[in-house]
Amino acid sequence: MRERETESGTPFKTVYDAEDLAGFDPARLGEPGEFPYTRGVYPGMYTERPWTMRQYAGFGTASESNQRYRELIENGTTGLSVAFDLPTQMGYDSDASLAHGEVGKVGVAIDSLADMRVLFDRIPLGEVSTSMTINAPAAVLLLLYQLVAEEQGVDPTRLTGTIQNDVLKEYIARGTYIFPPAASLRLVSDTFSYCRSELPRWNTISISGYHMAEAGAHPAQEIAFTLANGIAYVQAAIDAGLAVDDFAPRLSFFFVSRTSLLEEVAKFRAARRIWAHVMRDRFGARNPKSLMLRFHTQTAGVQLTAQQPEVNLVRVAVQALAAVLGGTQSLHTNSFDEAIALPTQKAARLALRTQQVIAYESDVTKTVDPFAGSYVIESLTDDLEDHALKLMQRVDDLGGAVAAIEQGYQKSEIEQTAYATAQQIDDGERIVVGVNRFTLAEEEPYEPLRVDPAIEQAQVDRLVSLRAGRDQQAVDAALDQLRTAAKGDDNVLYPMKEALRALATVGEVCDVLREVWGRYQPSDRF
Ligand code: 3HC
Repeated sequence: MRERETESGTPFKTVYDAEDLAGFDPARLGEPGEFPYTRGVYPGMYTERPWTMRQYAGFGTASESNQRYRELIENGTTGLSVAFDLPTQMGYDSDASLAHGEVGKVGVAIDSLADMRVLFDRIPLGEVSTSMTINAPAAVLLLLYQLVAEEQGVDPTRLTGTIQNDVLKEYIARGTYIFPPAASLRLVSDTFSYCRSELPRWNTISISGYHMAEAGAHPAQEIAFTLANGIAYVQAAIDAGLAVDDFAPRLSFFFVSRTSLLEEVAKFRAARRIWAHVMRDRFGARNPKSLMLRFHTQTAGVQLTAQQPEVNLVRVAVQALAAVLGGTQSLHTNSFDEAIALPTQKAARLALRTQQVIAYESDVTKTVDPFAGSYVIESLTDDLEDHALKLMQRVDDLGGAVAAIEQGYQKSEIEQTAYATAQQIDDGERIVVGVNRFTLAEEEPYEPLRVDPAIEQAQVDRLVSLRAGRDQQAVDAALDQLRTAAKGDDNVLYPMKEALRALATVGEVCDVLREVWGRYQPSDRF
């Protein structure tokens, strides 16, 4: 990137002026809360209600994570966001051989209903909205959450939250996939249908650009590949017989927010406008809620530095401001020490305080979409919309997102951008404060949080006693019901819920689905 280019590669003008808005038609923006939602999905936006402050957290055993959640709620967080460890994300139990060394490491270990009860102990599920970052086995964790809510006496029609449930981006970046694409899309459609009937306020998917951005995608690629994945999910649900307005209102999205504030504000506005047109013009959606791109934002983890970690407080503040000026519905601010290790409690609190200063001390929440009409923001919004639409057309020409994934298109495009970015940093063309400019001769020591390795054995012991104490016949019979549904066309979530209620484990449920549907093997063509 030359000094004066956007992240997406278009040149910055020294001065933007009225000429750049020649022919600018305010109707193309729409009013806030009206099609095509360029200015935001709600008429009053933050003047009515601030975004949800939703700090992603989870590590170790369910009881340790439960304590962090209760601390965050005490500190003022307004939504929960659960991080699961890799074995849970991959559908393996904590005592599986593949799980060794990963139990409780990058998130909380959840093997069964017993663990889920501990995770949400003393947290009233009828009063919080909980996001769960879980993809391939998202339906399993959703049902465990619903079972705990049922035991708390919560009416399922009131239960709110989100499962990420976006396996397509896992094939492109991140990698926590289990089943082949067709089976994954079937499970997503079954989940849409189940939630439509049983959990009408639940957001069934969080179609994510964040991880592709963290893998290197620039803003135009981020929104283009994310919305192209969204199109694939909508088409799969329609092909499964669902009516678009029956599930589209509960789709949601997830993007990154980079330090390049101007382009990020434009990115969010362009994404909303593209999605509104796609849903109305391509899929014939009529319910206004089907046309609204509601999204969560996380500040850019990849821009955190291990060098001079306190400088990250400034980066995160700029990135959070960009997300708010861009109209996010929910926000996670990274902790300044996260490039080193799991965040300490103090760092996590400072991250939340960053949001609270923007929400309650700044004036950016006193009016809706304050940058509207700005020469540079409207120009960048138009540029990004055009750039993203061209990339989405390319994906369509390749046969759609799944076909493009199987040809390695998105992955290859992102890798090229990532390589160029890395070269710019190495050449000093792209300044990273504290890393290739303004460095310290001697880094100051920082004492990170460490997860006790003994938690793996504690979790395995819990699992062994769970299996010893349950009605094994009931578990086997319920898993058989699931196997039959997976082989046929019935919605698998209903037998899955009964198996989990009988204390079948996450790994056992996913093993039945692996047995019937197989496991995804990436082609080596990428
Ligand atoms: N005017 C009127 N109504 C408003 C309003 C306003 N200004 N603001 C909010 N509301 C209403 C909404 O309509 C909604 O009502 P409803 O539920 O009846 O529709 C309610 O208030 C809640 O508002 P939102 O839905 O906007 O906010 P939520 O926080 O509930 O939902 C979301 C936001 C983006 C739709 C949802 O999907 C969400 O919370 N996503 C979070 C995803 C997440 O946390 N992901 C973490 C990923 S971490 C990860 O991937 C791992 C690592 O590798 C990065």
